[in-house]
Amino acid sequence: MKVLVVGGGGREHALVWKLKQSPKVTEIYCAPGNAGIARQATCVNISAEDIPALLAFARGKAIDLTLVGPEAPLTAGIVDEFQAAGLKIFGPSRAAAEIEGSKVFAKEIMAKYGIPTAGYAVFTSPDEAIAHIQKNGLPCVLKADGLAAGKGVIIAHDLETAHAAVKSIMVNRDFGEAGARLVVEECLTGEEVTILAFTDGDTVIPMMSSQDHKRAYDHDEGPNTGGMGAYAPAPVCTPELAQRAMEEILMPMVHALKAEGRTYRGVIYAGLMVTGQAPKVLEFNVRFGDPEAQPVLSLLETDLVEIMEAVLEGRLDQIDIKWKNQASICVVLASKGYPGAYEKGKVIYGLDETPGDIMIFHAGTAEKDGQIVTSGGRVLGVTATGPDIPAAIRKAYAAVGQIGFDGMHYRRDIGRKALDRS
Ligand code: AMP
Ligand code: GLY
Repeated sequence: MKVLVVGGGGREHALVWKLKQSPKVTEIYCAPGNAGIARQATCVNISAEDIPALLAFARGKAIDLTLVGPEAPLTAGIVDEFQAAGLKIFGPSRAAAEIEGSKVFAKEIMAKYGIPTAGYAVFTSPDEAIAHIQKNGLPCVLKADGLAAGKGVIIAHDLETAHAAVKSIMVNRDFGEAGARLVVEECLTGEEVTILAFTDGDTVIPMMSSQDHKRAYDHDEGPNTGGMGAYAPAPVCTPELAQRAMEEILMPMVHALKAEGRTYRGVIYAGLMVTGQAPKVLEFNVRFGDPEAQPVLSLLETDLVEIMEAVLEGRLDQIDIKWKNQASICVVLASKGYPGAYEKGKVIYGLDETPGDIMIFHAGTAEKDGQIVTSGGRVLGVTATGPDIPAAIRKAYAAVGQIGFDGMHYRRDIGRKALDRS
């Protein structure tokens, strides 16, 4: 079968890598892809958000199955458009994807169905938001309602930061229309965990747990990023916690969406805060996490195409998803300046010197004059699998030591929370 992957980051490279192993797949296209993906698939120069061009391409090439990596095309309705054209596509509809597209919608549905999450209030007036924050006290978390590429969340410990966040989101509209409404949330403390799951709208099958590292620098310091590294499985997710997350969060959410006439099919991402043994939702996403997908897919044994077909045909209850009894970590190598403005076009050295069992998933790379150069904030995700987390960490960092580009920075403590627990 011919498969089209939409997107061009580390997550999509991991998806292409996994699809390449499927005996059912004969050709893989990726739009737009990157220099690493280009070694495993045919990259097509179409933006992940240009739905009409993607649809025309899929029709022209008679693509059998499309898999969407990022959230923006999903919340814009790519699945609805492909399905209306009679094309098979994996992911939630526009209505179901609203759980990521609108934080207000996600909070309202969680409130309505009693799904545990931080307390919240919604504002359309900056003055009312400030008055609420002054009355309720700090810290609090301020979130733009709409998509903001992971940057629309600010944790305020003082009024000055809260004022600046309200101004940035609601007045200056730094995230555009995403800032028309503001969610002010109770600040939760604990350890974060990501639980991804496959669902066909009825059955929910969780993947292996994982943990992202959102802050730019070691010890969770510095600004939030798209994710500086991840590992799986996450020991914070004990069997008891995994069961509670399924019973109190994932299954109720999927069933709530069905009850609301927004049946959810695809991958659902629950970002949870664990306090004691109690999980609470920080956010839902409507796709694989990036960089969580890199370690999680590295450990998936079952053919991804088989799972996607079962989701699309509503028979997820009939399949058995198998995982390697191993651990995996992904260390992200980022450009100087990231997550702020960053440099591009730096030549990357050492890519061919890493051992064969290390996966270097490309995130922001391009090919220029026969060389691989940087072209994004997150450049590479060095991913290693081993018998346990310490072994995977050693392997990944040994490989990181082989790679370099001007201004490269990365966290040296990916996976440390797992070590602290064992
Ligand atoms: P989100 O995009 O909503 O996941 O927010 C990004 C990051 O902000 C999360 O991964 C958390 O680290 C943090 N965060 C979001 N909401 C809260 C909250 N209510 N309490 C504490 N931290 C939060
Ligand atoms: N790693 C966080 C995300 O994919 O949203």
